[in-house]
Amino acid sequence: MSSLNRRRVLSLGAALGLASVAGTAPAWAWSSTGSIAGTGTGADPWWVWDDEVDRLLARLLKAGEVPAVNTAMQAWVNNSDPLPGDLPTDLATYLQQVNRLPAWADHDKLRRAADFNRRKDTYLFMLYGLGSGIMSTVIPREARSVYWSAGGADMKDRAAKTFTFGYDLSDLNAFEPSGQFVVTANKTRLVHAAVRHLLPQSTRWTAVADEPKHIPISNGDILITFHSLGTFVHKKLIEWHVPMSAEDEEAFLHMWQVAIHLLGVREEFIPKTWADARAQSEQILTPLLAPTTEGKRLAEDLLGLTAELDLGVTRGFLNEFVRYVLSDEIGDWLELRRDYAAAATIRTGWPAYIAFREGLLPVAPAGFYMFDQFVRAIAMLFLNNGTSPTTTPITIPTGNRPG
Ligand code: HEM
Repeated sequence: MSSLNRRRVLSLGAALGLASVAGTAPAWAWSSTGSIAGTGTGADPWWVWDDEVDRLLARLLKAGEVPAVNTAMQAWVNNSDPLPGDLPTDLATYLQQVNRLPAWADHDKLRRAADFNRRKDTYLFMLYGLGSGIMSTVIPREARSVYWSAGGADMKDRAAKTFTFGYDLSDLNAFEPSGQFVVTANKTRLVHAAVRHLLPQSTRWTAVADEPKHIPISNGDILITFHSLGTFVHKKLIEWHVPMSAEDEEAFLHMWQVAIHLLGVREEFIPKTWADARAQSEQILTPLLAPTTEGKRLAEDLLGLTAELDLGVTRGFLNEFVRYVLSDEIGDWLELRRDYAAAATIRTGWPAYIAFREGLLPVAPAGFYMFDQFVRAIAMLFLNNGTSPTTTPITIPTGNRPG
């Protein structure tokens, strides 16, 4: 079909309300010349998963071996820990190959990234927690996968597990032998492989999936989530005039490049520079954002849990902060109740708060202490979840959402 004809068919479909199944992936058009590999094989990341580990998890789930693997993995925490002795041989052989940094990992950059995370932690907690976390609920494929998987039924537990990933990634020793991120990333990779096997068996998930026969969590889907985290946070830090050196920015990107590599994304899809990442994000994240029933419920769960804390602000303020960080359009999709007074306070108070913290304002602006308490409460939420368990609590699911 010529592209003109195809476009006419698509616009006719749109006019009839047919074309826009929320979350349908756009055709892949990003060039691998902008990737860390510098070249590509022509593969389409919407149709690339993680074959070896996917086969492995399918076998372990069918054989009923996953609970024993979860027990064995409890003692596997630090990057320098040996693999647990009682893992099935095929899983141990696989983990031996992948449980390490790639040859292109730059230790100086990773150390700088860790230091950057420490220096900017206040903004990072706010942006990951109230920005990326809520954005994940308007990424239709992610929202539906999370909602209909086992973890979707207990968002408190799931949020704690996800915080573990963020906490381990942001830790000063994240990639060092005494850090935990390489292990946490590998456990997450196993969880994703299990989800690829389990979710297609859920009739409730297949009924709402944009492509019912599509296996979830493709390389393309992981890239979308990376943009909702790393690329989004980087963009916001610039918009908020948070001072960053070029080396800091590069190090922060490098940390994410290594992280998504550890999650199984091929090097031909991993953006090389922030400009390449932004271009990819505009193609695959921005046009895909949309409300779904599942996403609205997840957002309400997440914001309800946050609002249970003593934030020093009202739920209306929390809603408006999310709107401020993400946009009114997303706020409207999620039906976040308006509080126009809080919105006005945030619009003027938050930039002044940042300016004062960064030493660009001589006197504390009005509302400084309220913002400070809010920021501290969000940080505590993150840190409590990250520091309380002595072992990473990430476990491989054996089923989908119950009930
Ligand atoms: C599980 C992180 C991409 C769907 C997890 C877990 C972490 C995590 C830490 C383990 C915690 C838990 O079990 O809840 C990430 C990161 C991603 C990413 C850092 C990309 C940078 C995705 C994508 C999808 C997805 C693209 C779907 C489209 C899920 C699901 C679970 C999960 C369904 C299992 C929840 C459960 O049943 O417990 N992910 N994820 N993830 N992830 Fe991801």
